[in-house]
Amino acid sequence: MVQPRSMLASTPVESLIPPHALASDKEDRPADLDDALQAGLLDQPAHIVPKYLYDTLGSSLFTAITQLPEYYPTRCEAEILQDHADEIARHVGQVQALIDLGAGDCDKAEKLFPLLRPESYVPIDISVDFLLAAVERLRHRHPSIRIHPVGQDFHQQALSLPEHIASRGRLFFYPGSSIGNLDPAQAQLLLSQVCSLCPGGGLLIGVDRVKSRDILEPAYDDALHLTAAFNLNLLRHVNLQLGSDFDVQDWKHVAVYDEAHSRIQMFLQAQADVVVNWPGGQRSFSRGERIHTENSYKYTPENFTQLLMSAGFTQIQHWTDSRGWFSVYSARSPESRH
Ligand code: AVI
Repeated sequence: MVQPRSMLASTPVESLIPPHALASDKEDRPADLDDALQAGLLDQPAHIVPKYLYDTLGSSLFTAITQLPEYYPTRCEAEILQDHADEIARHVGQVQALIDLGAGDCDKAEKLFPLLRPESYVPIDISVDFLLAAVERLRHRHPSIRIHPVGQDFHQQALSLPEHIASRGRLFFYPGSSIGNLDPAQAQLLLSQVCSLCPGGGLLIGVDRVKSRDILEPAYDDALHLTAAFNLNLLRHVNLQLGSDFDVQDWKHVAVYDEAHSRIQMFLQAQADVVVNWPGGQRSFSRGERIHTENSYKYTPENFTQLLMSAGFTQIQHWTDSRGWFSVYSARSPESRH
């Protein structure tokens, strides 16, 4: 996640990433990041924030996960966006700036370009190297769209946009049910920020729905073990950040559906008694002890509509796929509230 100098130097001026946005850069804020990581590792039970899932390898693994037969959300969302494209475009209205939260490889937003015809595109992602590689490809394919990439961890920091982005006609696009990786209180906070950043504009967001454990658990623990690799790779990333000596072989991936909270929880479970060392710290884990790495909340349409309303959105409409497994919501931000 460290931004190579050569890459920044070759990036066109209008898309330079603000220094504050390189939240994941080890050289940028090592003390804060290391403190937070150590506190999580020493906590009872231990936890590591999910942003460590997304270094360059982690982002590639996630892209591969979206193609797994068990991981239905990406296909369900694509089906909805395709089958209801015209209605969605009507509800969304005129789009000047398409702002893509957690853009990744920018693939989902690119599919919307012909439908929404944005003048500018603002992909925001924590994985800066991965984002810049995607933007490079996009610039060749869509020379008429102004592209302003931003490297930011908006799950941890207040969401901010480059100043020169048109204040009218903003559409935030937050696909893939990434909102589910926040707990409902954090989700409401982020949605409120989004709402106040797009007066008169709106939000198009994909959200996974509550469903049976038999469908949910394999989606997060697939037969090819790609999700296991994605989860375990976080330990390699933490080793780089903290100088710790996690041995990936000592740990196994666990994903369970917590029905009471409508969330999948991912953990790494020690396969034996393990001692992990890092400069200035140490933690012993007993066999079977777990480190929590991710939540993925699932919502009923009623619960998510309520969440959007409490964040300030109005004119909420949603569409679902043929199996009713996933929803895409379009919601408007009132002009007058801001
Ligand atoms: C990015 N996010 C929406 C994924 C999810 O489904 O919660 C992350 C993921 N974790 C394991 N598989 C996919």
